[in-house]
Amino acid sequence: MRIDEARSWLLTQFAQSESPAADADCLLCHVLGVSRTWLRTWPERALTDPQWLQLQSLAARRQRGEPVAHLLGEREFWSLPLRVNSSTLIPRPDTEVLVEEALGCLQGRVTPRAVDLGTGTGAIALALKSERPDLQMWAVERSPEAFSLAQDNATRLALTLELRLGSWFEPLADEQFDLIVSNPPYIDAADPHLEQGDVRFEPRSALVAEEQGLADLRHVIEYAPHHLLANGWLLLEHGWQQAAAVQALLSQRGFDHITTRRDYGDQERVTLGRWPGGAHELPSGT
Ligand SMILES: C[S@@+](CC[C@H](N)C(=O)[O-])C[C@H]1O[C@@H](n2cnc3c(N)ncnc32)[C@H](O)[C@@H]1O
Repeated sequence: MRIDEARSWLLTQFAQSESPAADADCLLCHVLGVSRTWLRTWPERALTDPQWLQLQSLAARRQRGEPVAHLLGEREFWSLPLRVNSSTLIPRPDTEVLVEEALGCLQGRVTPRAVDLGTGTGAIALALKSERPDLQMWAVERSPEAFSLAQDNATRLALTLELRLGSWFEPLADEQFDLIVSNPPYIDAADPHLEQGDVRFEPRSALVAEEQGLADLRHVIEYAPHHLLANGWLLLEHGWQQAAAVQALLSQRGFDHITTRRDYGDQERVTLGRWPGGAHELPSGT
């Protein structure tokens, strides 16, 4: 089977997919171990029999809806190749907006300290550490499988993280930070999008939160002041309809400089606030 013939066959198999050409090219590059440019340059080259068999098996899984990232076991985020699996969210390009914003908040701070809550693959923490080697970067994850994945990604990229297994602030004791970032679960359990596309193959524990999706955002906002240095920043990714609610929660908790950033699809998806300092009174029931 020639490469161009295999590609045509894949395009017919993926006719129902949102991105047939991209899916076909990704699978071909993966199976052949080559770049897209190589694929275009040598369309007449032939696949070996094992390569053709592997391609057919991956195509069948893709037709059943499995995300391309799971088939490849990898997804690029902030130009970092990250291992991915079914234990956590596949990093999304829109989350790079949160990274950009976080880097802005760290400007002018020398050897700052930051923590990423619900780190998953480690995407946000590793992106920040790759840009700011002087950053003391912590990361917390509750799922043991996702925790191992983040550890593996950090090792492969030779980036040092202080990784902790546990729930939100619980494994951080009294540590304080210049910056807290989080992309927590924020989807309402009744949201019909949970039955569509890639999210069907991602764990509910990474996606869904109580209180119409606001419970984890509310928890992080409530307890963050105890772990923020004076003038430290809290940055949160949230759903496109949650900006007003997140802004209100930050304001009620005493944050100032509250603003929301739009993602690449022009939706309000990242809200940040500055903790002015002062009393870190904890709500009861910590
Ligand atoms: C939406 S995913 C974000 C993953 C990654 N930060 C990213 O942006 O790609 C949320 C992550 O939070 C983790 N998580 C959920 N509840 C948690 C909790 N109580 N404490 C710590 N992590 C939690 C999930 O396992 C998942 O990895």
